[in-house]
Amino acid sequence: MHLKLGLLAAAAAAAAGVASAQRPTATSICDYYTTALLKNNTAENQLTLLTLLVNTVVIGNYTMPNVGVIVPGILAAGVFNGNKVDLLPYFTGDLLSTNRGGSKGVSVNFLDGGGAAPLRKNMPADDPTSNQYFLLTHLYQFFGALLGCSQYGMGGAFAAYSGDASMYETHKFMDLDADEVGYFVEQIALAAASFGVAKEDITAVGTALNSLFGLRCAPPTTVIPAQGDQLQAICIADDCPLSPNATCDKYESAFPPASAVSTSTTMTGTTMMGGSTGTSMTGTMNPTGMPSTTTGSGSMPTSSVVTAGAPAATRLSLVAVVGGFAALLF
Ligand SMILES: *[C@@H]1O[C@H](CO)[C@@H](O)[C@H](O)[C@H]1NC(C)=O
Ligand SMILES: *[C@@H]1O[C@H](CO)[C@@H](O)[C@H](O)[C@H]1NC(C)=O
Ligand SMILES: *[C@@H]1O[C@H](CO)[C@@H](O)[C@H](O)[C@H]1NC(C)=O
Repeated sequence: MHLKLGLLAAAAAAAAGVASAQRPTATSICDYYTTALLKNNTAENQLTLLTLLVNTVVIGNYTMPNVGVIVPGILAAGVFNGNKVDLLPYFTGDLLSTNRGGSKGVSVNFLDGGGAAPLRKNMPADDPTSNQYFLLTHLYQFFGALLGCSQYGMGGAFAAYSGDASMYETHKFMDLDADEVGYFVEQIALAAASFGVAKEDITAVGTALNSLFGLRCAPPTTVIPAQGDQLQAICIADDCPLSPNATCDKYESAFPPASAVSTSTTMTGTTMMGGSTGTSMTGTMNPTGMPSTTTGSGSMPTSSVVTAGAPAATRLSLVAVVGGFAALLF
């Protein structure tokens, strides 16, 4: 596996002084951490856990308290395996990278529901008809199924995933490479670590995500039971490791990297992913919720939910924050 999970796990363990109880194998990751962090293992709380996790993956750590793990989030440019990664243009509509145009990628703005501000309030979007709302709620649902939430799709507050069945199909015009997918999975691991998830569980999730999404030509796999086996690989560029069970004939031949909406200059795929977008994107970086734009009010609901919900018996660890000596409940 090309994930840097060992490093993450070590960082999380150091930060959290992890003294967490072992998760019983019969209890899913979703149910275990819902109980640990939010106490009652209800559909509402399972959905809240997935909301906290996914929103943190997207905009970076925004809840207080946290265990001292900094999560940049997938909207922030970063580095993976020594290479620059910038996933933001896939969300802003600056690339023709969404699969709503049949044989061609089209531009879709996925930050059209208020951007980071509603995410900081533990919401998917301000506008329930926005692309952002559908993307975020689908992420809560998809990952709720993946992490084994017992109340997922049971008719209660946690609705079943109803989005497109194949992650390959929805991502194919993005032509994601190993660093981009690696960065995405790393942000999920960091977000989990920021909530005190045990390193064994982070490793398990990372391994599962990597074999599901990160192996080129991976065979059809079931994530959503009602949707059956589907092509799920989102890492389809040449540098993606080949699945040991590769079924490349089931995938279409390689797509060129998604082109920019504006083709005024002779931009190539590689400049798209590099610095050229970096400067022009600064205006849209603000809505992604870097700390400078944090209002403070957004973190209140989470703070009260998390701290009020965790009795001594379910504390995952007791954390001494550097310089603050504050004991945080996780
Ligand atoms: C948990 O559920 C019980 C029983 O439904 C209820 O009395 C209690 O208030 C709930 N606690 C929280 C923190 O939601
Ligand atoms: C993210 O976590 C770091 C480390 O605990 C913390 O210093 C920072 O304030 C957090 N950012 C936000 C926006 O909460
Ligand atoms: C490959 O196929 C074998 C046999 O079906 C299976 O045990 C294994 O888990 C598969 N590996 C991956 C990465 O899909």
